[in-house]
Amino acid sequence: MPETSVLYPPVERVAPPAESPRYASPIAAIKELKRQRKAVVLAHNYQTPEIYHGVADIVGDSLALARRAAETEAEVIVMAGVHFMAETAKLLNPDKTVLIPDERAGCSLAASITGADVRLLREAYPGVPIVTYVNTSAEVKADSDVCCTSGNALQVVESLGSDRVIFLPDEYLANYVARQTKVQVIGWHGRCEVHEQFTPADIARHREAFEGLKVIAHPECPPEVLDAADFVGSTAQMIGYVKGRRPGRVLLLTECSMSDNVAAEVTDVEFVRPCNLCPHMKRITLENIEQALRTLEPKVEVPAAVAARARRAVERMLEIG
Ligand code: 13P
Ligand code: SF4
Repeated sequence: MPETSVLYPPVERVAPPAESPRYASPIAAIKELKRQRKAVVLAHNYQTPEIYHGVADIVGDSLALARRAAETEAEVIVMAGVHFMAETAKLLNPDKTVLIPDERAGCSLAASITGADVRLLREAYPGVPIVTYVNTSAEVKADSDVCCTSGNALQVVESLGSDRVIFLPDEYLANYVARQTKVQVIGWHGRCEVHEQFTPADIARHREAFEGLKVIAHPECPPEVLDAADFVGSTAQMIGYVKGRRPGRVLLLTECSMSDNVAAEVTDVEFVRPCNLCPHMKRITLENIEQALRTLEPKVEVPAAVAARARRAVERMLEIG
């Protein structure tokens, strides 16, 4: 049995001691398989601490994962995240093997819109540029002009030099961008099933119970929640706020595991919950990461005709910021 404390000291701060030995063996196996396969594990900030701190080579928000996927020299990329993130990694690495440990790891935003919907919008608004959140399928990206993430959405919208843009598919992110720009934003009705659950009442209750609380929200939350927060940003920007400002107490209005991951590193900040779980992110486990590295399955493939156009939209975003 490998020595747990050597394998992942940060996890010990957030995982109950009884659970530690359960993680040690798959973590050791994954580390060895990564070496054999010349593989890297990219993990989103919402992955559980044993993945995030135990086996990930690169962690970050969607933007950082896309950027780092474009730079990696590894032969195999395992995406510990959801399917659209793995597709983006594949678009940027057409000749590499990209694995998603559970193909069912979807996203309610990605499921809210199809390529046919985007084509209809283009017909309805001729000449209006289409900005698409990366939380979409490759097919949707292929019918768009440029992608964005929650970290660069405003910058991308303003870079286009147009007085109107179509912004897909997150209604709340579109609204958040619209409130900061003179550009007219035409939205869609997609929502994140995790962030749409937060309410201003949650914030009020916690501010009352925890003196000095700083409330930090992801822009996929409803507008009245963003209004009641102290800071709004992508998952990486939220982490940057906590690490930089070191508030005494913080409530992260986002997916649960992120607080666990940051709490393992930032021990002088009290993390107040609640948070909500993303059932899609939670499909990824140490066990299925190990299995993916052993079998080199399930692979993510994007049909060539779709990939070329979708890649252009992602690369255009990476050039902007
Ligand atoms: P970030 O790009 O901010 O990490 O967000 C991704 C996501 O899925 C949020 O729900
Ligand atoms: Fe999609 Fe929301 Fe899950 Fe992020 S948290 S992957 S936006 S369902």
